[in-house]
This record gives sequence, structure tokens and C-alpha cells, in this order.
Amino acid sequence: MENSNSNPNQIKNRSKPHAILVAHPLQGHLIPSVQLAIKLASNNFSITFINAENIHHQITLSNTTNHSHDDIFAEARRNSPSLDIDYMTVSDGLPVGFDRSLNHDQWVGATIHCFPAHVEVAVAKIVRSKPAVCCLIADSYSVWASKLAKKYGLFYVSFWTESAMVLDFYFHLHLLKEFGHIGPGSSGCKDAIIDYIPGISSIKRTDLTSYLQEEDLTTMAHQSIFPSIEDAKRAEFILANTVHELEAQPISAIQTQTPFYAIGPLFPIEFSTSPVATSLWAESDCITWLDSKPPGSVLYVSFGSYAHISKEELEEIANGIKLSGVNFLWVVRPDMVSSDDSDPLPIGFRDEVNGRGMIVTWTNQKAVLSHRATGGFLTHCGWNSTLESIWYEVPFLCFPLLTDQFTNRKLIVDDWKIGCNLCEEKPLKRMEVLQKIKDLMIGGKLGFELKDNIKRIKQLLENATKGSSEKNVHSFFEELNVAIEKKSLAC
Ligand code: UDX
Repeated sequence: MENSNSNPNQIKNRSKPHAILVAHPLQGHLIPSVQLAIKLASNNFSITFINAENIHHQITLSNTTNHSHDDIFAEARRNSPSLDIDYMTVSDGLPVGFDRSLNHDQWVGATIHCFPAHVEVAVAKIVRSKPAVCCLIADSYSVWASKLAKKYGLFYVSFWTESAMVLDFYFHLHLLKEFGHIGPGSSGCKDAIIDYIPGISSIKRTDLTSYLQEEDLTTMAHQSIFPSIEDAKRAEFILANTVHELEAQPISAIQTQTPFYAIGPLFPIEFSTSPVATSLWAESDCITWLDSKPPGSVLYVSFGSYAHISKEELEEIANGIKLSGVNFLWVVRPDMVSSDDSDPLPIGFRDEVNGRGMIVTWTNQKAVLSHRATGGFLTHCGWNSTLESIWYEVPFLCFPLLTDQFTNRKLIVDDWKIGCNLCEEKPLKRMEVLQKIKDLMIGGKLGFELKDNIKRIKQLLENATKGSSEKNVHSFFEELNVAIEKKSLAC
């Protein structure tokens, strides 16, 4: 099934370059993709944004205040009529209501095999109706993008939503394999130090992404990640939600292989609320509650939108938080442990923390992080959360669960020194949780040091929005124009 909404701007803007932007059907990828669409459209691009139907449906169900139910960009266009963004939805091949969280491998299979078929039908239709279409922008975790772009004579622009360091690992898988640090038998060298990847002076094996730490590299996740990275290498351009000054060395290493443009941080700088609804769960309003708490007194706890946590670890965290006595705001998604265990918190916990703890299913994270009452962030270290927390100068307590989060932890704790570990060694125990929370929220020295460091890192991000990232966006436009020009001369 396919649904398309045109906007009147396209009629007067036929000569603008037109990009088709396909969002990867996950919360943490959709959010920066929407911001990328807005950034490009604010720079004289016209965009057709393709969203997965189930994601669109979930946003619509969760968002009762936005009445533009057919098009998540409708309100943004009302506020800014020159924003030239059309919106389409396509199926990923699974029924809209299917539980993708509980049936992860089936979902991954659908994103490899079915979603691209629906995207292709949509792309063919757009290319037929819009002569100025020049490029296909797709998430770097798409296995299908370069082939599709080539078939329709488009440039492939790959969109990387994580740190450059993670892409640098993936670009050098052959070295990791050669040294026996990934794949079968590699967990025997758990404590290995990896010092041969260009752009990364030295890193522990335990700081690689979770997928690279697994022995079995043939799972559904690997069948998706590895080919998609190979495909990203074929892209004419890679745009990334990172900042040159944060990751200069891995970025240089990647640039020896592919044109790579760090254009982050991609979020609306001035506003903690975006005119585009992107949340997959209904946002609880926490501001009144936060207003009632003293400055810096609230620990914000969230593990993002995707990873699961074991019931045992959730219990240790809940008990550590309870014993610490600090105020806290905790996002507990309905599928945090598993979607067939919708209230996994220990029995009685909610009553025991009543008054000093607020527990919600989802909230506006940027509004929480920017609130003066928020003093620390117990996080899974997702890349969006990392950039947002730096932006609002909230120090981290890190508990990575999956994928790039282990590498992000290393950047946060070991390199930038803006956070500390929740747990030095597993298994996680409540007394350590209690101690770490106290060190961060009440301890004094550690909290001050982290806050000082985070101010410095925030400054790098802020400078980049007017400096390197802005410059890189313009370099991308120029290079793309040159490529378009060359191509039209060759025809
Ligand atoms: C996923 C991966 O897990 C992550 O490691 C990768 O870097 C990006 O894709 P996710 O787990 O959702 O993302 O984490 P994160 O990258 O932090 O993104 C979460 C987004 O949801 C953030 O933009 C955050 O502001 C938003 N959020 C989170 C809310 O708006 N409300 C909430 O209650 C929680």
C-alpha cells in the first residue's frame, strides 16, 4: 500500500534539486532523518520523504494533538510555507499492527526483502512525475539503496546516524577478521586491545559494537548490517550526524575511502519541541512535575527506543534508584524487557517511590534534558541521546545495552570524560547502582568535573552548528551540483 501527499510548492520549484529521502523504520533513525529533510529543504532542496507505514501509523496513534494525520510535515509547512517536503508512506511488507519488537528477526527480514520492493515502486513513481529528482538518500543501514539509485539514474547519498568511530570499525571489518578479533573463537580474546584500525589509536574489544563482539556473525542482524555497510561504501556521498571536532581522526580515515560530511548535531537547536511529530509512543507531560523539583536534583533515566534490558538488571537498577533517595524521572517503554511483559518494574516499586519518582512510557526527552531540574542522565548511550545530553550539558551515567552504545560509552566516559559507568563489571548490583547515582548526583567533585568537561564538549557542538557542520552542508551541495552538472553533460 502506498500513500502520497503533494504540496503546492513543488509546482513553482521545478528547477530545485529533488531528493528522495527514505527513513529507516526505527525511532532513533527517523528522528535525525526528519531533521535532515528539514535542513535540506531549508537549503533550497525539494524533498520527498518516505516513511514506513507502520511507523507512520504508530506516530499517528500516539499523537492526539497534531491533526495532520496524513502527513507528519504538514504543521512544519504551515509554520514555514517555503519548506518543500512531500510525504509518502510505504509498507515494510508486514501487517501494520504486527509486533516487530517481539518478532525482531522477522522484522529484519522484512526490511531486507519487502521494504525495498515497496520503496522501489514509490521511487519509480516519483522519478516519473518529477524530472528534477537527482538523488536517493537512504539510511546507511539499508542493504538495497545503491542498486536502486543506480537503476533510476540517481546519486546515492548514504545517511549515517551514529558516531564516525562506529562506521570506521565497520569500514575495516577485514582487519578485525584478519587479526581474529571478531567472529568464531574471538571471544577468547575478550580483553584484546585493537590498535590497527586507521583513525582509532587504540580501543578495547569490549568497546566494539555489540554485533562485533558476538561469535556468530551470521544472525539476521549481521545479514542486514554487513551488506548495508558494503552498500554505503558505494555511495557517492555519506552525510553523518556527527561533528568533525569530536571525531576528526575516524572521520579522516573514512574520508580516504568515501566522501563523508559531518553535518551534526541534527536537531532543532532553538526548540525542544519540533513541529514534526516523530514519537512512536504518546509523550507524557513531565514539565509540571519537574518544575516542582530543585535545580539539578532529578536523575533522568531512559534506555531509548529499541534495546531491551533483562528483568534482573531492571530490578537492580530500580532498587539502586530507590535506595539512593534521589528524585528521578524514568521512561519505561512497554517493551523495555519484552512486549509480553508490559509492567516489568518490581512489585510495589511505584508506591515506594511515590512523590520523588515519576515513571512514564515516553516523554519529550529534549524538554526533560533542557529543564533546570535535570541533573544527570542514566542512559543506554544511544547516539541521539548522547548528542542531546551534551547539548543540554547533562552528565551521563552509562549503561550500554546493544549495538553502537558500547562504543558511545567509551567516547563519553574514557575520551570526553563527561560521564561515568553505572557498572564497572557485570553482573550489575543494586549497591553499585546506588553508589554511582550518589557520586553523580550528590557526590560533588565528580559531578562538578563532569559538568566542566561537558561545557567544553557542548561548545564544540555549538561552534560546529555555525562552523564546520554548516560548511560541510554547503560543500555537500556544491559537490552534488558539480556531479549533477557532469552527469548532464555526459548525457
Ligand atoms: C537506536 C540505537 O539503539 C542507538 O544506539 C543508535 O545510536 C540510534 O538508533 P535509540 O535506542 O532509540 O536508537 O536511542 P537514541 O539514539 O538515543 O534515540 C532515542 C531518541 O528518542 C532520542 O532522540 C530521544 O530524544 C528520543 N526520546 C527518547 C524521546 O523523545 N522520548 C523518550 O522518552 C525517550
